[in-house]
Amino acid sequence: MAIGETITQFITQEQRRVGGTGEFTAILNDTLTACKQISNAVNKGALIGVLGGAGADNVQGEAQKKLDVISNDMMIQANEWGGHLAAMASEEMEDIYPIPDGYPRGKYLLLFDPLDGSSNIDVNISVGTIFSILRCPDGVTNPTMKDFLQPGTRQVCAGYALYGPSTMLVLTTGQGVNGFTLDRNIGEFVLTHPGMRIPEDTREFSINASNSRFWEAPVRRYIDECLAGKTGARGVDFNMRWVASMVAEVHRILTRGGIFMYPKDTKDPKKEGRLRLMYEANPMSFIVEQAGGVASTGRARILDIAPHDIHQRVPVILGSRNEVERVVAYHREAN
Ligand code: F6P
Ligand code: MN
Repeated sequence: MAIGETITQFITQEQRRVGGTGEFTAILNDTLTACKQISNAVNKGALIGVLGGAGADNVQGEAQKKLDVISNDMMIQANEWGGHLAAMASEEMEDIYPIPDGYPRGKYLLLFDPLDGSSNIDVNISVGTIFSILRCPDGVTNPTMKDFLQPGTRQVCAGYALYGPSTMLVLTTGQGVNGFTLDRNIGEFVLTHPGMRIPEDTREFSINASNSRFWEAPVRRYIDECLAGKTGARGVDFNMRWVASMVAEVHRILTRGGIFMYPKDTKDPKKEGRLRLMYEANPMSFIVEQAGGVASTGRARILDIAPHDIHQRVPVILGSRNEVERVVAYHREAN
């Protein structure tokens, strides 16, 4: 792999190396097309009238933005025709989306959050698309929801597109993490960040502190120590960042280290966490682990969770190894 090569070259070479059939490369190409279309829409924003609310709630009971709906349609349309997927699932759709009659069905399943961080759309702050690819269980040609309920360790690929000052695509197929930047003049993602690694240590944390009264003791302890800085148990000062787009947060951590937390809290006892396992936590955890970081609920490795629902939520603590392991140790000690 060489800096400056296109993502198509990159995946094709990967495919040759592992003796793949090209099916997977084809899926990825379609997903990339959708990401470029979404990037375009996000980039033009108010000029093409796509900002603001869609006037409905999604399955999660969250107000949908016009761009949530547009991005979801773009993902579906770019990916349904190719013949290599059996079904898709999205944050914006309650039920799974089997590939409609009229298109051939393939052996992969695609899950996605079409536009993550959508509270940031109208204020022109970075948002992103997250995706995860699973194999459809052997012999299944008519998949149902339960065929998606595989632990994150079974992902064959995970990635995200970040629509920031540049549009970037960050990808893993289980062989490390590579980052590509969209060159709009040629319409291609170009390899700019080969072999991304998360530094093991960090002095930067990321958490929505407005929830602090609902946190559990181990998280409170960790954050209190960060806030106490030089004068506390840690003996060093920490910095804090909160973008409120998980994609931007994870990208910062992949670039310069950090710890991101959306922990379990008691705000709404019915919810196991804030972030969704199948199309937020799992793909991001796969990427983070492949870059040398750690991703945990505080009590368990995220990728090992046996899912019970495609829209289930989980606590998420991820990033630089030594800090995440410290938070996990605090959970253990609290038991
Ligand atoms: O999709 C969930 C999400 O938008 C994440 O991208 C982000 O990390 C989080 O929610 C922001 O949460 P809050 O609104 O509590 O800041
Ligand atoms: Mn999201």
